[in-house]
Amino acid sequence: MCGRPISVDDPALRPDGPAWIPVCDLGRLKAETIVRVAGRDMLVIWNEGDVIACERACPHEQADLGLGQVAAGRLYCPRHAASFDLRDGTITSGWPSPPLRLYPVKVAGEQVWIAARGRQAGR
Ligand code: FES
Repeated sequence: MCGRPISVDDPALRPDGPAWIPVCDLGRLKAETIVRVAGRDMLVIWNEGDVIACERACPHEQADLGLGQVAAGRLYCPRHAASFDLRDGTITSGWPSPPLRLYPVKVAGEQVWIAARGRQAGR
């Protein structure tokens, strides 16, 4: 059976445990729409009331998506203007590119957190 009891005080189970990294406050994200994650090639995005975390380099030819635009649930790349669905990372039909990698994200109070080791959808 189990070697030790499970406790809600276990750091690995807390939202602020070791897998989660604080990024910015929600007010800043709402004001800026796209925020680069310090020290990592990742972005957090404010999208129609949702917070999304994704890789910063475009999977097509590695343009900086931090310079892109968000509209109608899509992230538009600044280089070739292809766009990614922020629900699942899929690129505009017809583009020879893997999907955009998405990462787990959560908001606790006013703080935005990412789980940089986890992945959602994509490659
Ligand atoms: S580099 Fe982003 S669509 Fe080509």
